[in-house]
Amino acid sequence: MAQADECRRPPGPRGHWLLGNTPAYDTDRIGFLRRTHREHGDVFAFDERTVFVADPELAHDALARTNSSFLTELTPFDTRPDLDRAAAQADAWMSARRTVWPGLNHAAAAAADGRTVALLDALAGLAAEREVDVLPMMRTYAAHAIAGYCFGRDATGIPELLADNLEITEPFTDTSYRLPAWLPLPRHRRFFRVHRHTVDTLTGIVRRRRADPGRTPADLLGFLLAADPAMGDRTVMSTLRGILMGGHGIPAAALTSIVRELATRPRLAGDLRDEAGSGAPAARLPLAEAVVKEVLRLHPPVWLMTRTARTATTLGGWTLNPGDEVLINPYLIQRDPRWWERADGFDPGRWLSGQAAPRAAYLPFGAGPRVCVGAALALRQLTLATSRLAQAYTVESSNAAGAEPRFHGRLAPSGLRARLRPGGPARHAT
Ligand code: HEM
Repeated sequence: MAQADECRRPPGPRGHWLLGNTPAYDTDRIGFLRRTHREHGDVFAFDERTVFVADPELAHDALARTNSSFLTELTPFDTRPDLDRAAAQADAWMSARRTVWPGLNHAAAAAADGRTVALLDALAGLAAEREVDVLPMMRTYAAHAIAGYCFGRDATGIPELLADNLEITEPFTDTSYRLPAWLPLPRHRRFFRVHRHTVDTLTGIVRRRRADPGRTPADLLGFLLAADPAMGDRTVMSTLRGILMGGHGIPAAALTSIVRELATRPRLAGDLRDEAGSGAPAARLPLAEAVVKEVLRLHPPVWLMTRTARTATTLGGWTLNPGDEVLINPYLIQRDPRWWERADGFDPGRWLSGQAAPRAAYLPFGAGPRVCVGAALALRQLTLATSRLAQAYTVESSNAAGAEPRFHGRLAPSGLRARLRPGGPARHAT
């Protein structure tokens, strides 16, 4: 590399002579990132192809230039991604995304309110008598919620399929080493098997519904089949597949963090109960919404976003080559005392004060052309779920205080267990 180019690479730790920074990172991911951020600043190099970004404006710059200069996250074992193919897939997705968007807006989301509460109550029944693992419970909840939203009564079997899809990605989130897809590893074979089965199952549902035009259920599949101009079966299937994948593991992680806050803050739970009991419509639960926003600030499930340079480009004056990766870190940005008062403190009140949050420094749903397409639906369902949990249950947990966040895949408190005892919280001080 020429001297001039070298100067335009950000600074960063050297790491192990052979293995680089990966062992240190995989031992304690957030510890490594906090340390490196402190020592090297808002943009630092992890290795010669990977750059971390903890600067809000540069994060927004990279997110805003997604689809043009950058591509979103590619499959977990793409050691040599085909950038042209990925760019063509991005173009196809953007067109489908525009079609599906109104099917996920506030008005469409509101129609699912009753189902959100009924589902939550059904699952909470399983945790009424004894503590259960919260993350698996919330994954079950979120999988049923999004499967029902997409397929209505045709959703049978989809939640189980979504659980399989989460399971096959887990081996890839536990380590930062990547192995090529052609290696005949059991985890690769399982990944492709589940992927094929998912595509076949979803395609089957789409075709059966298309063949039965008399039935027009008010679900997302019905919405897409009625789109004008018409979408092909394959596009409908892949669009719904994207929604299903984005719409269960991440909300489940957020709900698990919410349960942890409710378990450790009885006074807050009481205030939420008062709000829910005030007879306000579901859309107007400002405290519950503020709790959700604050949880997403402190514990963003998507704590890292990956971008791959599609072309040779620059970011904040640093040079990037095609294929280089930029890892944007909402966790560090959303806890940075330069942008947030009491940055590490849990304070839902900051969202009720009428003062605008620091715009660029809050990105739990991402930003730019690939901002979360389910944000309105997610915010509404999480707000309602938070309010319902506080209103109808006392959340008790023997390990909430010690349930450490796990920075693998989606950020959530590790091993959190809780009991949801029917009946509101006792009113005592935190
Ligand atoms: C707490 C709830 C949620 C959070 C925090 C969240 C967060 C995010 C973030 C940060 C991204 C952008 C990732 C990136 O730029 O690399 C994203 C994308 C996406 N989300 Fe969500 N999400 C949530 C719920 C949902 C739900 C309920 C759905 C489905 C209805 C959904 C569907 C999607 C899809 C399809 C994308 C990809 C968009 C694209 O690439 O164009 N998300 N989400």
